[in-house]
Amino acid sequence: MLKIAEEKDLVSIVKNAVEKHGAQADEFIPILLEINHEYGYIPGEAIRQARKLLHGAPGKSPEERVLVSEGQLYGLASFYHMLHTEKTGRHVVQFCESAPCHVQGGRELWKALQQTLELKAGETDPQGRFTLKTVSCLGVCGVGPVMLVDDDLYGNVGPEQLADIFARYE
Ligand code: FES
Repeated sequence: MLKIAEEKDLVSIVKNAVEKHGAQADEFIPILLEINHEYGYIPGEAIRQARKLLHGAPGKSPEERVLVSEGQLYGLASFYHMLHTEKTGRHVVQFCESAPCHVQGGRELWKALQQTLELKAGETDPQGRFTLKTVSCLGVCGVGPVMLVDDDLYGNVGPEQLADIFARYE
């Protein structure tokens, strides 16, 4: 799972991400991914810092500067399932709630997931081990129902497999 690096300096993490990928509109996602990777989520302050750096990129004339609002960056961070705008547990479980998965056993899996983890959507357990989220179609409907644990995709998941799957994550 993503490393939580709260002790790292937020400004330098954001600065490194912007410098590494470049202050261009088509690099917003890689920049946000980088911040997410370092922190485990994207703090609101990181979005404000990223916007400042994108606007004031050195060597850019006012016409070349990337103008982006905090709202746009936040919208991107909220839209992509790989990015998290709230602090999460060490592992993020994302359950596909779209219709094709729903009719292939998703409803039963969702119930079992909530029971097994003792969590509802958006919650993190008190030990900070798992966060449970729902997500829209992940593009692999043929193997539904589907869930992600961090970057690991699980297809054709049955409730009876959950204990084994979660035992792989500390
Ligand atoms: S509907 Fe679940 S992966 Fe497409």
